Amino acid sequence: MLALVALAIIAALIAGGLGVAGPIDAAFRDLMGLPERANGRGLFTGALSAHSWTEAERGLIASLSIDRLPPLPPDPSNAFGDDPAAVALGQALFFDSGLSPDGSVSCATCHQPERYFTDGKRLANVRGADTPRHTPTIVGIAYSDWFYWDGRKDSQWAQALAPQEAPVEHGGSRTAHARYVLGAYRSQYEALFGTAPDVSDENRFPAHAAPMDDEAARAAWDGMTASDRQTINRVFANIGKSIAAYSRRIMPGRSRFDDYAAAALVNDQARMAELFTEEEAAGLRLFFGDGQCTDCHNGPQLTNGTFHNIGLPLPEGSNFDQGRSLGTLQVVDDIFNCLGDYSDADEEECVELRFIKLEGEELVGAFKVPGLRNVAETAPYMHNGIFPDLDAVIRHYNHAPPAFPGHSDLVPLAFSEEQSAALIAFLLTLNAPPNAPPELLQPPQGEE
Ligand code: HEC
Ligand code: HEC
Repeated sequence: MLALVALAIIAALIAGGLGVAGPIDAAFRDLMGLPERANGRGLFTGALSAHSWTEAERGLIASLSIDRLPPLPPDPSNAFGDDPAAVALGQALFFDSGLSPDGSVSCATCHQPERYFTDGKRLANVRGADTPRHTPTIVGIAYSDWFYWDGRKDSQWAQALAPQEAPVEHGGSRTAHARYVLGAYRSQYEALFGTAPDVSDENRFPAHAAPMDDEAARAAWDGMTASDRQTINRVFANIGKSIAAYSRRIMPGRSRFDDYAAAALVNDQARMAELFTEEEAAGLRLFFGDGQCTDCHNGPQLTNGTFHNIGLPLPEGSNFDQGRSLGTLQVVDDIFNCLGDYSDADEEECVELRFIKLEGEELVGAFKVPGLRNVAETAPYMHNGIFPDLDAVIRHYNHAPPAFPGHSDLVPLAFSEEQSAALIAFLLTLNAPPNAPPELLQPPQGEE
């Protein structure tokens, strides 16, 4: 009898190790006191056991569910963040290409609602010029502590200011945009922020002035009085606060995975088997098991919000991107940060910024861990858009080459093709239309 059991174990181990059907039935496992399944090994072990999880595993699966997404806390630095009138103004501004000097670019040019607020390009590109990075989604982004791939902004409203002045994005300037908004949206602006300042005097408020690389704009900005500059900065910040109020409303929706997690929580195996194929369940097992994806991609949005260097290849012809090691310096210097004059937060509310880690080798070439909801819909991937599809992403995790400079936080997975396919099958279950009132997923109707 013992010899037979030993043989069975060996057979089962071989089958499991090779990643082929490993028919270890549950009674046998009980008898032997074996864990229900060896983590990530033996992908297809029969319909029921694919969905049999230990209590600890069920807890882990539930922790990734959208049911665990807490209500969005207020942003203390934006007193207008949850004001419906700011949402309405922000929505109009998000879709308004009047916020660009040639009338051609709005936020929605790159963050397109029908593409989960991305643009499908390797690098963002308007007017034929590449920006240095790939356009991330903004769905569910309001939960982040840091914004941009390198986290160089600490609020969504401060973030919303930068593209307006980037020559490769909107290409405008803060005086131009303050004047535009105070003209086109005067009553909406005043209803929110009080009496609008008079910025019509072109001698005091030049048409194109900002502290940016464009020399003429910078000279014009330097020529303004300190108090006029403050007036413009205040209006500019309010524009950002309105846009953020709108973007904060774009939440991730309920995916098939979330229904699966709910079934897993109550251990309803029949329901689990209805919702996921065995391959998808095997992919989920690899995701938190041998793949160790949940080291970084955890919580209901499948990100822990930190920064890591994962040793990505450098696109041909591009320079090394320092990522977080530069982003920390920029956010601390930003006059629109949580501790700045235009923030509505008290100092003690700016916890993230006050305790920011400024230096360390691990920041070099590190980028924000992106959430993975709707990831199948937001190709290409990574801060530099280097991977055109999920196959290429998983190939990278399988090989995990060393990073240079900096060091990679990955270990090569060397998954089989079957395992890699299962992991991707799981990622595809994270799709769901954004959760927002339909009228927010398009330009405002009937106005402007
Ligand atoms: C030219 C295309 C383009 C335009 C226009 C644009 N963005 Fe972006 N957006 C990007 C790119 C590229 C990034 C990433 C840049 C980086 O990390 O350095 C980004 C990043 C972001 C992020 C940060 C997301 C994250 O994961 O941290 C938010 C939020 C955002 N944009 C909102 C906006 C808003 C609001 C506007 C309009 C005021 C806007 N964007 C205009 C391309 C664009
Ligand atoms: C050490 C932390 C870490 C681990 C472990 C990790 N990731 Fe990532 N992941 C990241 C970071 C950081 C990025 C963005 C890197 C960049 O753009 O420079 C990323 C990007 C991605 C992307 C691209 C998303 C997008 O929108 O561009 C996918 C897909 C992904 N990871 C899936 C996985 C899977 C699947 C696993 C497990 C096999 C995994 N990750 C393990 C940190 C990690």
